[in-house]
Amino acid sequence: MGDRRLDEADLSGKRVLVREDLNVPLEASGAITNATRIDAALPTLQMLRERGAKVIVMSHLGRPDGKVVENLRLAPVAAALSRALGCNVTMAPDCVGPQVQALVAAMRDGDVLLLENLRFHPGEEANDPAFARELAALGDLYVNDAFGTAHRAHASTVGITEFLPSYMGPLLAREVHILEEITQHPKRPFIAVLGGAKVSDKIGVLNRLLELCDALVIGGGMANTLLAAKGVEVGRSLRDKDLGPAQEILAKSADHHHGRARIHLPTDAIVAKQLSAEADTRDAELGQLQPDDMILDIGPGTAMDFRGVILEAKTVLWNGPMGVFEMDAFAAGTEAVGQAIVDSGAVSIVGGGDTAAAAHKLGFAEKMTHISTGGGATLEFLEGKQLPGIAALRSKAPSA
Ligand code: 3PG
Ligand code: MG
Repeated sequence: MGDRRLDEADLSGKRVLVREDLNVPLEASGAITNATRIDAALPTLQMLRERGAKVIVMSHLGRPDGKVVENLRLAPVAAALSRALGCNVTMAPDCVGPQVQALVAAMRDGDVLLLENLRFHPGEEANDPAFARELAALGDLYVNDAFGTAHRAHASTVGITEFLPSYMGPLLAREVHILEEITQHPKRPFIAVLGGAKVSDKIGVLNRLLELCDALVIGGGMANTLLAAKGVEVGRSLRDKDLGPAQEILAKSADHHHGRARIHLPTDAIVAKQLSAEADTRDAELGQLQPDDMILDIGPGTAMDFRGVILEAKTVLWNGPMGVFEMDAFAAGTEAVGQAIVDSGAVSIVGGGDTAAAAHKLGFAEKMTHISTGGGATLEFLEGKQLPGIAALRSKAPSA
């Protein structure tokens, strides 16, 4: 591999442009509802400061689509970083241009500057070389630490590596290492606990997990689609319209030449007539749903079954809640599964923003082995795809 080693680089007095994924969920008030990505970036930023770098942090936030969107400014993130690092983090008014250049020129060693949302410029997502060059002009070297954005070929993750000596950051390296470990040498049984909305989005990763894992435990909207594909009535539950991909997965799992994993689906569910915290709910056996029922969580019988499967695991990958955990009435299934993962003592990797949020809300976050900062990036990695952000670093020759 051509990875340059950041730990061997002389950073003292250097302008280090570091790409983090600080794309955190924000409320309209600017309150950050889940700081996993900020917390995960802190050790890298602290390390760069301690080594005497001028730390210029880049990130995107949301999908402003190439123009300024006021409520997608990074100011709340700068404030959170200032508090967590215990130093002033200056918020730049933009990510390129003369004002930003002046701010960079005034930096002292150990200072931290946060550039404004990269996606306010169309050149970011277009991976425009002119924009990448403008970013690169701000620094002496580039560090990509943004695992959560490694599946995007953008100017700040790929294009910029053409213009600066480029290094893999410690957070990105750690995320990749953990995923390589569980895909290459998982301690078995290796069980994936999957939920979330759609099967069609995740068909590639499901195919791969069928081969990689010993069992798949599936709840949430994904289970509804698989159940519907088996001909089970799921009423008005959230599910994919197209059942083709789900049927393919079921056929593949039944054919033992293809996969090793057994698929465990819910046998009962918490259902209601509408998605509301006040709705009347009941536990229904699957097969006995009415056409106007909605499945909003796995049922207690299923939670017990899933617990039994999960307790056997030595490695668990958890992606996707079992139900609408944001409402207490529909959180029990996700809570039961999270508790089983903790009780199993398995190496546990949690991926995806919703799942990390559930783990925090339900109090499991501290007890998991690793909460990944990647959602889409984790899934694409598991699918076996090359992540462009990582490939760009690896394709560059090592420094002399
Ligand atoms: C994410 O949250 O998925 C990453 O930050 C990448 O953002 P994107 O999906 O908008 O490209
Ligand atoms: Mg995404």
